[in-house]
Amino acid sequence: MKILVVGKGGREHALVRALAESPSKPELFCFPGSDAIFEIAKPIEADGLESLIEWMSANAIDLCVAGEESYLVKGEGLANLCQKAGIPCWGPPKESAQLEASKEFAKEFLVRNSIPTAKATATETLDEAVAAIGGEYPTVLKFDGLAAGKGVAVCPDQASAMDFLDEVFTQKRFGPGRVLVEQCLVGPEVSIFAAIVDDRYIIFTPARDYKRALDGDQGPNTGGMGAVASRQLLAAEQLERIEREILEPSVKGLNKEGLPYRGFLYFGLMMTSEGPKVIEYNCRFGDPECQAVMPLVKGDLAEFCLAGAKGELKPELITFDDGWSVCVIVASAGYPESSRSGDVITGVDTDGDFRIYHAGTKLNADGQWETHGGRVMAIVCAGQHRMEAVKKAHAATDQIRFDGLQRRRDIGILNFD
Ligand code: AMP
Ligand code: GLY
Repeated sequence: MKILVVGKGGREHALVRALAESPSKPELFCFPGSDAIFEIAKPIEADGLESLIEWMSANAIDLCVAGEESYLVKGEGLANLCQKAGIPCWGPPKESAQLEASKEFAKEFLVRNSIPTAKATATETLDEAVAAIGGEYPTVLKFDGLAAGKGVAVCPDQASAMDFLDEVFTQKRFGPGRVLVEQCLVGPEVSIFAAIVDDRYIIFTPARDYKRALDGDQGPNTGGMGAVASRQLLAAEQLERIEREILEPSVKGLNKEGLPYRGFLYFGLMMTSEGPKVIEYNCRFGDPECQAVMPLVKGDLAEFCLAGAKGELKPELITFDDGWSVCVIVASAGYPESSRSGDVITGVDTDGDFRIYHAGTKLNADGQWETHGGRVMAIVCAGQHRMEAVKKAHAATDQIRFDGLQRRRDIGILNFD
């Protein structure tokens, strides 16, 4: 079996590793990929979506796995083009990927299907946004488009709201677009991942990410500074309620509204006092949750995704380890405002009971790994108990060194007990 994974980050490194470890032993390719990914998957000659599809057809690729969201909505859409070319794709077509690409589309879908979510108003101008906020703080402002995880601001006061609205409407930092003014929900967050095949689904191990840059959930929002995954993250009744009130109506809604879906769907949830509510959908696995979850997946993920992309959900092909998995991110100097490249990384080859997934790294001319982006790598350990996984993950992270390294020391600890 020949599989091509689309993406280049830590999530894709974890996906490629999990596919490589599948008993069906697929031959792996990746686009655009990274030096670390190219240690286990082959690079390909393509310079865009169209040439990628041509390459897949010419090279008899059996399955395309969408790691990263942007290709799903670029041009005609990765999955749409795959379908035209007769290549099974694990990832939804453009029309369904609007669930992630447009916050307004997602909100309307949620409301139409009576799925619990925060109340929201769509606004087109700064004045409309100010009117919709109505002086009530905290408030949540969301740019209505893909903004690499930077398009959401939880604003405790008027000054922070005005800063964000100025970025969107005056500086047009994310390009043209509207802003959703949303009710601020309170409660622990949880990330649920379902593998959806038309009208059926299974749930992967629940996870939680840590979005703020600093310990104690302080500092600016980031793409994610760590994650924890375990079946035990939620009580059985909580998971049942999530399935009944959120997953089932979401999958039914997709089918009812003629939105085809074969791939991972990520439900970002807030466990409020009134029950679970949807904060967002993403049409792919989470990053860095994927890095925490993948080591817990056993069985044949490659066959599972291939069958799914062809329309057959085969839960019997995979199982999930009990226990816990903890993922600590190391980030480069300046992150998240900027990132510094070129710092040499040591400790990467140390052997141990852990996995390292690269996100922003590059091999230099001397064959050393160096930083090449904001989030540099994820260090992941599993354990039967949470604190066992926590201690192992943080100890393994201590081995990784480079100038300006930033990390959190409370991943897997904060927001428990
Ligand atoms: P997103 O980019 O949509 O993942 O949102 C980023 C983060 O903003 C979420 O993980 C939450 O922590 C926070 N957030 C988004 N929507 C809300 C909301 N309605 N209430 C409170 N926090 C929110
Ligand atoms: N961990 C958040 C995301 O992948 O969007």
